[in-house]
Amino acid sequence: MGLFDRRKPLDASASHADGQRLTPTLSWPHLVAMGVGAIVGTGILTLIGVGADRAGPAVLISFAIAGAICACAALAYAEMATMLPAAGSAYSYSYTVLGELIAWVVGWSLILEYSLVVSTVAVGWSGYAAPLLHASTGFPMALMQGPELGGIVNLPAVFIIAVVAGLLIVGTRESATLNAILVLVKIATLALFVAVALPYFNATNLEPFMPFGFAKSMSGDGVERGVMAAAAIIFFAFYGFDAISTAAEEAKKPERDLPIGIIGSMIACTLIYMLVAAAAVGALPFTRFADSPEPLALILREIGQGKIATIVAAAAVIALPTVLLAFLFGQSRIFLVMARDGFLPPRLAQLSRRGSPVRITLITAAFVSLIAGFVPLDEIAALANSGTLVAFIAVSTCMLVMRRRAPDMHRPFHTPAATLVGVAAILGCLYLFLSLPTKTQIWFFVWNAFGLVVYFLYGRARSLVGKAEAAAK
Ligand code: ALA
Repeated sequence: MGLFDRRKPLDASASHADGQRLTPTLSWPHLVAMGVGAIVGTGILTLIGVGADRAGPAVLISFAIAGAICACAALAYAEMATMLPAAGSAYSYSYTVLGELIAWVVGWSLILEYSLVVSTVAVGWSGYAAPLLHASTGFPMALMQGPELGGIVNLPAVFIIAVVAGLLIVGTRESATLNAILVLVKIATLALFVAVALPYFNATNLEPFMPFGFAKSMSGDGVERGVMAAAAIIFFAFYGFDAISTAAEEAKKPERDLPIGIIGSMIACTLIYMLVAAAAVGALPFTRFADSPEPLALILREIGQGKIATIVAAAAVIALPTVLLAFLFGQSRIFLVMARDGFLPPRLAQLSRRGSPVRITLITAAFVSLIAGFVPLDEIAALANSGTLVAFIAVSTCMLVMRRRAPDMHRPFHTPAATLVGVAAILGCLYLFLSLPTKTQIWFFVWNAFGLVVYFLYGRARSLVGKAEAAAK
């Protein structure tokens, strides 16, 4: 058996041992809420500052490029998620379409993505929460910032991860409903920012528009900049719709609910971002908010809207946990599905009586807390993006391969202009990957090299698909 032809049979993705099958409890409003809940977060609230630092006002173009590439990938996701409505998203599709080895690399990349998104967002949350907490209680800043900012540990980030993990352990449905309420708060907050900041729009703040050029290049201070370097970071702001496809197995009518959830939330978020970004770079020269841990609040304070700044910060603190909820949910499902396939100890995949994978959620929460407590925000975000880009490339490839391999298979959702969209998604994601900081690319390859060692020493021999194939001979 070669390395690339051990594939999970198509119908195996929906059948699982008793006690490991997730219950369908979610319908499309939950999924759109879950999508917007997962997409709008630290990317627009915090990384907009990093993006402006990398591209200047041309970060607006970075938003448009990252959004267009994500939209192409979102279409491929919608097609794959409705064809193979199984938990595990890109990992599960790759296992069925591209084979076990590639699926492993994708699963390993998804673990990187989901873990580091949770860590990044927890640090972003803390960026808005810490000043409020410090002002109201005097709690020392040294315990609310990681070592890179001169602190000891980022305790608020650890705290919020613990709270969200607790919610997930209580049960999916309850968490999804609470999520929907918090999503409304988040949208209202961004709308408030735009309404207050847009009247301060000053066209001179947009000049020079593209101070660092288009392609990634090294600046004098050792930072890689350019419109594409910013797009590769800002990309973080757009994903999250893939977290919906990890819930495919729990959707009541996946063929209707998933495309609405994925594409609806994607379009809504892109529109919101363009408005927020235009309001931000128009209101203040970008250099004044580029390295702030709470850029939107800072912009509002600088234009003399201190009270609104506090409201926006407080609302961010209340609403950002929706992103954590979606990604911690997604992460526990990726682990669950990989464990179910024999790649991780089966005891990990056991569900509680309420249907939650308690052990995996706890282990994940501990791991992501450690990173959030100590590692700098932009570095975690860039590495999370690298994992996501690999997943997007894999899903787009799966979509194109399945169009050739099984053209007549039932597709509840068809990607329009599939070849064009699929190729654009793959090339766009590759370009974004190459535009990430060189250090990030190296870490990504180190992570996956380690993953391959685990695969060949542990996973390959325990794979249930491999065992079934051996038994059939
Ligand atoms: N898109 C999500 C965010 O910006 C990950 O927080």
